[in-house]
Amino acid sequence: MKLAVVGTGYVGLVTGVCLAEIGHHVTCIDIDEMKVEKMKKGIVPIYEPGLSELMNKNMAAGRLSFTSSHNEGFAGAEVVYIAVGTPQKDDGSANLTYVEQVAVTIAKTAKNETIVVTKSTVPVGTNDRLQTIINQNKLSPIKIEVVSNPEFLREGSAIYDSFHGNRIIIGANTEEAAQKIAEINKPFGIFIYKTDIRSAEMIKYASNAFLATKISFINEIANICERVGADVEKVAVGMGLDQRIGSAFLKAGIGYGGSCFPKDTKALIQIAGNVEYDFELLKGVVNVNRKQQRILLNKLRGIVGNFEGKKIAVLGLAFKPDTDDLREAPSILITNELINGGAQVYAYDPIAIENAKKTLNSSIIYVEKLEDALEKADAALILTEWSEIKNMEISLFKTMKNPIVLDGRNCFSLVQMQESNVDYHSVGRRV
Ligand code: UGA
Repeated sequence: MKLAVVGTGYVGLVTGVCLAEIGHHVTCIDIDEMKVEKMKKGIVPIYEPGLSELMNKNMAAGRLSFTSSHNEGFAGAEVVYIAVGTPQKDDGSANLTYVEQVAVTIAKTAKNETIVVTKSTVPVGTNDRLQTIINQNKLSPIKIEVVSNPEFLREGSAIYDSFHGNRIIIGANTEEAAQKIAEINKPFGIFIYKTDIRSAEMIKYASNAFLATKISFINEIANICERVGADVEKVAVGMGLDQRIGSAFLKAGIGYGGSCFPKDTKALIQIAGNVEYDFELLKGVVNVNRKQQRILLNKLRGIVGNFEGKKIAVLGLAFKPDTDDLREAPSILITNELINGGAQVYAYDPIAIENAKKTLNSSIIYVEKLEDALEKADAALILTEWSEIKNMEISLFKTMKNPIVLDGRNCFSLVQMQESNVDYHSVGRRV
């Protein structure tokens, strides 16, 4: 089938590439001409394992192309996917300007019957609004129907998730439209759940909010574990063995970051507030996460007093491994507070340094090798569990002035660290 995808951010590009991989002819549209030129040459603008290979393979097979012209992209497309951003506004709600602009463009450009599929995460009721906007702006009486098909991909494993996800959610007003989107997705071989549009929109928010809740929950359990002498990792294993709970997303740490959980939890609180419902539980989840981002700083203060003049090694800056994304990463707050407290921050990340230079405090000194950050440091903070960090030689900590290590991601086993003579502090585990 001929498809178009508007927006080549993270969601749009992965969606376009994977739809091409299962045999569709996909044109990805973006208004950023420079980005389009790069993609035409086979250059992927984001870091995502496996994406570059798959993109180039499908371009070579003639199933995937890029353009900045909506007219060109929509020509002959039976389905147009909207995958533009919904950034957070100051009040926590989602900014729908871009999504709405695309709806108007589709209404004014589409020449044949079209299904418009929303991939972007949008508040409940948005797709109905998009349908109205499209109906009002249509230039001819062709049928254009909006369908909700939210995205559940994780950054860093987006390609894997596309082919091994647990479910595909399709929210539609008519069985005909739902069936067509189901047909498109059939080759993925993933269970398809068809529902109404508003429930589909809610499934996306509720899923992310629930996963964020699991994380904040285990983080609070971790904080209690430290005080009562239990080990959160063992607690999580024991809890996860109950299939009603499940073992995923019970990894304690320094809180969730990224472009989704922080934004979507706040947006859902806002959505609830708009209908006069106080989502108390989710407000707690957000507050716990805010506090959890500070725990390493509090622990460090407890050990070294103040940060003035101290050399602090920061290992890992991305909000999680296998991505160069720093959006809402705990590293933002942590490095800022260290620098404001007078510390010299030496930071290492295998992939995210270029993005970090654009995002983080300009006083940070970036190093190309992990060992350069550690050498003669007064303390080291581990913020991302990159495999390179998890597998590093423990003896490297010995090159520090004081081998004090605060591990925000529980990268090392306690036994391993006890033998090393490093002053090691992790999350939810006694030293
Ligand atoms: C998340 C969801 O997992 C996806 O299903 C969803 O499609 C996506 O948001 C989205 O809405 O687009 P993502 O933000 O890429 O995906 O990353 P996750 O792997 O979910 O991790 C989010 C954050 O939670 C990271 O900072 C990670 O370190 C943290 N986390 C995750 C924990 O602290 N503990 C855990 O056990 C799991």
